[in-house]
Amino acid sequence: MQPRSARITGWGMYAPMGVLSNADLERLVDTSDEWIVTRTGIRERRVAAPHETTATLAAIAAKRAIAVAGLDPDEIEMILVATLSPDYPMPSTAALVKEAIGNTRAAAMDVAAACSGFVYGYATGHAMVSSGMYRHVLVIGAELLTRFLDFGDRNTCILFGDGAGAVVISASDDPGGGMLGMELTTDPDGAYMIWLPSGGSKSPPSVETIARREHYIRMEGKETYRYATRTLASSALAAIQRAGLTADEIALFIPHQANLRIIESVAKGLGLSMDRFYVNVDRYGNTSAASVPIALAEAVDSGRVKVGDRIVFVAFGAGFTSGASVVEWTADPALGRRADSVVPAASVRAPVDWDSVDPMPARLAAVLNSRNGPAVPLDDVVPGEPEHAHREVPA
Ligand SMILES: CC(C)(COP(=O)(O)OP(=O)(O)OC[C@H]1O[C@@H](n2cnc3c(N)ncnc32)[C@H](O)[C@@H]1OP(=O)(O)O)[C@@H](O)C(=O)NCCC(=O)NCCS
Repeated sequence: MQPRSARITGWGMYAPMGVLSNADLERLVDTSDEWIVTRTGIRERRVAAPHETTATLAAIAAKRAIAVAGLDPDEIEMILVATLSPDYPMPSTAALVKEAIGNTRAAAMDVAAACSGFVYGYATGHAMVSSGMYRHVLVIGAELLTRFLDFGDRNTCILFGDGAGAVVISASDDPGGGMLGMELTTDPDGAYMIWLPSGGSKSPPSVETIARREHYIRMEGKETYRYATRTLASSALAAIQRAGLTADEIALFIPHQANLRIIESVAKGLGLSMDRFYVNVDRYGNTSAASVPIALAEAVDSGRVKVGDRIVFVAFGAGFTSGASVVEWTADPALGRRADSVVPAASVRAPVDWDSVDPMPARLAAVLNSRNGPAVPLDDVVPGEPEHAHREVPA
């Protein structure tokens, strides 16, 4: 195996059409738009339709990233899906995505590092390509969190949403570019700060665990907030130092989109203004492992990233995990237009003799179905962000 340089050649995202606004949440729990916006910056999040699963969201984002890379799906040799909301405990969601995108040759596996999952998956995929093991690796972050939320718990149900983002990492004979430095950490002291108790070997699902509502995400918000603000800054700085750079030399940070206040406090801690941070938490909420690749695809497609820019992916999540990568961007951002030709649909084969029960949480379905027509997604409303530039049509 010959070491090569490993660069991002494709990117793509998919957010389901369903929109759940703060006004909708006011009808589910004792909360207010004002409270949610002030404490989190979130205005709305997306909700997958009943026929969608984590694998179908992942497959659409993946097809877009593969189209941008100008590859045939069969040229992908490894598929990594970072997720905490897999279709099933087994098989892996990555195996289902492989079939859904029409790939016949790749190895496929999931990455479990919660909201840091994409950053962990990117580091893994980068190592596989730069070592010479594979030429093209697909790394996806995909989540369908609305199926794991207690829509009676105002502490958690306001925060999370559904979506997927993906990148293709390809070997290159040109030197440089790609990952310049990285940092990954895991701190089990925080193991039960964000937690889904039931479904594993410690607490298999049963009538009793369901009655105890242990099949839903639980979270200690304040502790998580404190950890997040500390670790996002320290992980980003460690990766930047390993790259031999200073924070000032980073053109754009693509942080995990958990809470606008957390991102603002990291910016302040690093002595940088908010225009160096890509923010879309207002429109998608926290999409866990999908948040960094969704933000990356939007940032590149809207002209916020140029060839030669040094950018930083940085995330934290359950575990507690955290991770950061410094990346030198090498791909022509205009190639993002190639994703527009991909039809936003994917199907994952189910066994012929089995069908799931309706997967939509009943309380959520009741609110969505009682509205007068579908909600229309908001435009980007985070103050202080530069206007999106228009993309050039690629040659
Ligand atoms: C969850 C979070 C927004 C809560 O904000 P906060 O300022 O810490 O709020 P607190 O938890 O102190 O709650 C303050 C009050 O608001 C109430 N509250 C909590 N959720 C509420 C909601 N959705 N609507 C209205 N009030 C709410 C609390 O019950 C509390 O009331 P009390 O003072 O009468 O007890 C914040 O802690 C956070 O973002 N934490 C990190 C979460 C995260 O990023 N998780 C994902 C990690 S990947």
